[in-house]
This record gives sequence, structure tokens and C-alpha cells, in this order.
Amino acid sequence: MSVPIVRTVAELRTVVAGWRRSGASVAVVPTMGALHEGHLSLVRAALQQADQVIVTLFVNPKQFNSAADLTAYPRTENQDAAKLVPLGAHLLYVPDAEEMYPAGFATTVSVAAIGESLCGAFRPGHFDGVATVVAKLFLQTGADFAFFGEKDFQQLQLVRRMVKDLDIPTTVVACPTVREVDGLALSSRNVRLSPAERAIAPKLASVLVETAERLARGGPLLATLAEARAATLAAGYREVEYLELRGEADLQPMTSVDRPARLLVAAWLGDTRLIDNVTTSPIGSTN
Ligand code: PAF
Repeated sequence: MSVPIVRTVAELRTVVAGWRRSGASVAVVPTMGALHEGHLSLVRAALQQADQVIVTLFVNPKQFNSAADLTAYPRTENQDAAKLVPLGAHLLYVPDAEEMYPAGFATTVSVAAIGESLCGAFRPGHFDGVATVVAKLFLQTGADFAFFGEKDFQQLQLVRRMVKDLDIPTTVVACPTVREVDGLALSSRNVRLSPAERAIAPKLASVLVETAERLARGGPLLATLAEARAATLAAGYREVEYLELRGEADLQPMTSVDRPARLLVAAWLGDTRLIDNVTTSPIGSTN
């Protein structure tokens, strides 16, 4: 058994048109491959929602800031395809860079504000690359539903904003972050951690959870965030790029937990950049 693979927009459109003729609904799970349980949870959710599920696998050069990072990104198509078989995904779409960005390609999708802060401030151009490729994947697949993990919360909100602004008829579905038993959020980058770093890594999630609880109980914002950054560094992280409280829906800065919020972090552990986030709401809120 194997998952059918298509590599061109034309082949993809032919398959989807056949599904549409039989009245099937279609979901897409965009990925860059190196599939782990977090990705597979998105595929399972998509299979619950739609008749036909396309998993896309494209290491998008436009969202990498460094050529070295792009080269080092794992490419594991055969293993990825094998992982999808027992789940029952219907199609794997694996375009190459020439198919996605043919000679003369000149369009960039840019989502202001959401794309410029947090990770966007440290990875210039990253979210333009994400928005551009996701817009293309939505238009190429014509999917009714698209599944994204909350682990990349800023990316999720950016895609939601883009879909709304551009009237793209794809419903974005968010799925919870999948974690190791010790709390570390699953990420393709975790394999880069040395055993010593792997032992330290879950501290990021525990600092977030403790900080979110303190803030929800009314803890002073600036002091509580400063202590969280200090605790992350004390645990062995080399640098905290940001550890911030933002509005859940708009990712705007907040001065207190007076509405549903996200606590978001990006930090370097050795040479590996990890991100994570947790939700927090005012105590007593029903949200
Ligand atoms: O989250 C990812 O893996 C990528 O940013 C995405 C959404 C597949 C776009 O390349």
C-alpha cells in the first residue's frame, strides 16, 4: 500500500476535479515534511472532517532566512509517505521549487502587523514566504478545509487573517499542540537537540504554563514576564528572543490578562531555535 503522489499543479487539479465531480469535500494539511506526531494529528483531524485529504510536502525556500538552514532542513519524502499510509490520507502533493515558483514568479503575499512582530521581527521575510506559499497551496488544491497546529500560533493567525482578507473560500481549522510526555512541544527541530539539551528543553513549556497561571491570577505583567525570561535562561537556554503576552485573536500587545490571551516564546537552546505558546484567560472567564 502507498499514498498516491502528484508533483505538478496540473496533476493535482485533475485528481481534485474527479473528487469534486463525485461531490466530495476536500481538506489540505500543508507541511514541509519530516512528519512527526504533530503533523499526523492534523491529518487525523482532517480525515474526520473531509472526504478527501491532501497532505502537501514542500520545503518552501521563501520562508527561510538563511541558505544554510534551508539546506539543513530534513528531506524525508519516503518515510513521510510511509507514515501517511496507515492513516489513510488520500494524496501527497510534492511540488518542487520550479513548479511552485516558475521563472518570472513575482508575487508576494504580505500580511501586515501580524507578520511583522514576534517571530517576524527576528526572521525578516519569513511570514511573507509562509503567506505566499499557503495562498498558493489553497488555490492549487481548492481545499474546503485547511489544518494547522497551534504550535505555530502566529502562523495560524496570519493564515486566518490572509484567508479573511483575500476572501479565500477555505476554512482554517486549528488543532492543539502535541507534546512529549515531559511537555516539550513536538517540532521537526527537536531532533537537532543533544541529549543534554533535550533534558533542558521541556523547561520552556513549564515556564510558560507557570507564567500563564500567575498572569491569569493577576500577577504583575512586566515583572512576571521578566522572571519567566530569567527562568528560561537559568534553565540553560542561551537566548530568549521574545517571551510576550499577546491578544489571542489579534496578537496585539496586552498590559494585563483582561481577555483571552496567548503567552508566546522563542528561545535558543544551543544552536536550535524553539518556539512554544500557551493560552491564558482571566480567572473566572468562561473563554
Ligand atoms: O508550518 C509549516 O510547516 C510551514 O510553514 C507551512 C505552513 C507548510 C508553509 O510552508
